[in-house]
Amino acid sequence: MSVIALVGGQWGDEGKGKVIDSLAAQADLVVRFAGGDNAGHTTVNPHGTFKLHLIPSGIFYDNVKCVVGNGVVVNPGVLLRELAELREYDIKADNLVVSDRAHVIMPYHTLLDGLEEERRGSGAIGTTKRGIGPAFVDKVARTGIRAGDLLDAELFRSRLDIVMEQKNALLTSLYHHPALSVDEVFEQYLDYGKQMRPYIVDTLPLLHAAMERGDRILLEGAQGALLDTDFGSYPFVTSSSPLSGGATIGTGIGPTHIEKVIGVFKVYATRVGGGPMPTELEDETGNFIREKAGEYGATTGRARRCGWFDAVAGRMSVQINGMTDIALTHLDIFDGFSSIKVCTGYRVNGKNLASFPSRVEVLEQCEPIYEEFPGWDECTEDIEDFSLLPPNAKDYIRAITRLVGCPVTLLSMGPKREQMIEVKSLD
Ligand code: IMO
Ligand code: MG
Repeated sequence: MSVIALVGGQWGDEGKGKVIDSLAAQADLVVRFAGGDNAGHTTVNPHGTFKLHLIPSGIFYDNVKCVVGNGVVVNPGVLLRELAELREYDIKADNLVVSDRAHVIMPYHTLLDGLEEERRGSGAIGTTKRGIGPAFVDKVARTGIRAGDLLDAELFRSRLDIVMEQKNALLTSLYHHPALSVDEVFEQYLDYGKQMRPYIVDTLPLLHAAMERGDRILLEGAQGALLDTDFGSYPFVTSSSPLSGGATIGTGIGPTHIEKVIGVFKVYATRVGGGPMPTELEDETGNFIREKAGEYGATTGRARRCGWFDAVAGRMSVQINGMTDIALTHLDIFDGFSSIKVCTGYRVNGKNLASFPSRVEVLEQCEPIYEEFPGWDECTEDIEDFSLLPPNAKDYIRAITRLVGCPVTLLSMGPKREQMIEVKSLD
């Protein structure tokens, strides 16, 4: 191996945490490469039920090294809290490292995220208000503070003075919000730096040494392809790339080293936050899926918008990620459904559209064209082999493979680590 990138294929919340937690049993390293604590990765394993936001989902294995890569924006308060919570469950997290290049989410980032959402009014993105967008803005504007900077008081102070002059001007003039105290932010983050010092390292040599040894590396994506800044429904997107391409930039592992790209998809679709979702079901079926599957945000608690699987969006997701495999999750949610729909095309102004539009204004007008599949009554939760699935479930999975252009090779039912099967053949 072996480097495997695991990415979200939809609008996030596809079950990445569970799949990583299962696959990590055969990994040496698990590396987060994008996003920040906007992510909420749920895993149910023998230690308990966890919702991780920042710490890689491989943390439950003592022998797996967990890396928060350079592409992640780190809120130190959240990281330290998550570590403390894990310690309560006797999970030591000794194997965690954080890239010194990772940018830090500062108090003005979270504040500005919320204020800007308010300012947008009805056009709000529906962000998680975790400061993700503003932190990536500073990264690209070259005014960001990196994790390594927190370890050098003088350097940190000089950078902070410059950036906070700008942020305070913005806070007071545009948002009419009181300025923040530079001294207070400095003291608090210097303290965070002290607490995080054991974890902060240059992760690049570590990753390349691991590859030279032939270690098995899992790159853990956050968010999903349809939230990508370039290819998602801009501006209703997140501010870093959740794609396999983002995995290379967010870790320093070149694309030729990645041998497999696994896209995680749910058998239906969900979206949380604003922006169009052509297959959204604002009816009984949508509510039923939400309640049966517990589709409420792991980060914000918001009710997720639920709908049918969108194969038009899925196909684009396969293409832009170069997916080699699909991990299909939540199959059991459809147990007992009499019929299941899949969106195979869009209709806009009386014309058919076969691909995902680049403009959100067009996506907003897209009416889904559905293909309908018969459902099944049997319980699939504990099925251990593809061949044992109800014939209609098999047909549905084959249809997804055909429609998005990538084989389903992993199938997940139920929340537990062991409720996942490898699909060797779709026959
Ligand atoms: P995981 O890793 C689902 C959504 C937000 C909002 C948009 C922008 O659990 O799949 P942001 O706070 O990133 O600026 O918000 O992106 N969003 C997610 N939706 N799962 C996530 O992560 C998400 N991370 C961000 O709801 O619509
Ligand atoms: Mg989530």
